[in-house]
Amino acid sequence: MEVKPRGTFLRSGKVKDIYELDANRLLFYFTDRVSAFDVILPSTIPRKGEVLCKLSAFWFETLGVPNHMVSVEGSNIMVVNRMTMIPVECVVRGYLYGSLHDRLLKGEVSLPTEKVLAAKLPEPYFDPTTKSEVKDEPITEAEIVREGRMTSAEMRGVKDSTLSIYAKMGERAIEHGFILADLKLEFGRRDGRVLLGDSIGPDEFRMWPADRYAPGKTQDSYDKQPVRDWLTKAGYKEKLDRARKSGEPTPTPPLLPAELVSLVSDRYVHIYEVLTGRKL
Ligand SMILES: Nc1ncnc2c1ncn2[C@@H]1O[C@H](COP(=O)(O)OP(=O)(O)OP(=O)(O)O)[C@@H](O)[C@H]1O
Ligand SMILES: [Mg+2]
Repeated sequence: MEVKPRGTFLRSGKVKDIYELDANRLLFYFTDRVSAFDVILPSTIPRKGEVLCKLSAFWFETLGVPNHMVSVEGSNIMVVNRMTMIPVECVVRGYLYGSLHDRLLKGEVSLPTEKVLAAKLPEPYFDPTTKSEVKDEPITEAEIVREGRMTSAEMRGVKDSTLSIYAKMGERAIEHGFILADLKLEFGRRDGRVLLGDSIGPDEFRMWPADRYAPGKTQDSYDKQPVRDWLTKAGYKEKLDRARKSGEPTPTPPLLPAELVSLVSDRYVHIYEVLTGRKL
């Protein structure tokens, strides 16, 4: 059941609309908006907001990690404890894919792995980025501490927590026939403690059906990867990269074809139902 958001509207993120309930609590309204390469697209994906909200709630309830969730209301709303967000996206990767694959080919990172797309890494790789309005950029642990984004103790805690959440979620996924290829988490501070925040759904991870996994090719992905793949094929990614390099405004993204929208919507619902054992 869709419930209307309440409180004072604060701002729209790329995916969530954020309302203030009081000094301590925020309300997240999960929309069906979809972004790719940090750009909001003109198409929406039906039921995406509901999946993101309910799957996030499932992980917050079951991971056993201190987090910001207070309650869920209806299908698209989560009330959370307000935090001061740590300006780092905590990315962990178990497989060589997406921007890590690109960076490895360009020699921007060195990793003890074959340079084959979708190869399993010898061990999960903590690969943080900055949190930026424009485009998130890779950052090292040493830079995070030097720039004062986290203390070194916080850095250690957040890294350990990210790796252990990845392991836990990966176990659940594989029990249900999916590989958790990678994951992005955000943490924040509240009353002197660091808590897990934001959301955990198919916008924050890549999930591949294990029985179709084969290195050396594009994987069938139960998340927003098909959207990124389509935009890349349509030439939009290249256009965007060129514009960003030369400091030009972001080019207008194309509308997604109807078949792609329904495929992605079905996959979001499917991954929710498979991972949680619940019907949406
Ligand atoms: N408990 C919390 N308290 C305050 N802010 C939070 C909390 N949890 C998540 N956030 C922030 O709220 C925003 C969530 O909205 P959404 O994910 O749509 O935004 P985004 O586009 O990813 O982020 P941004 O607008 O910062 O670029 C993010 O900026 C996230 O860091
Ligand atoms: Mg976000």
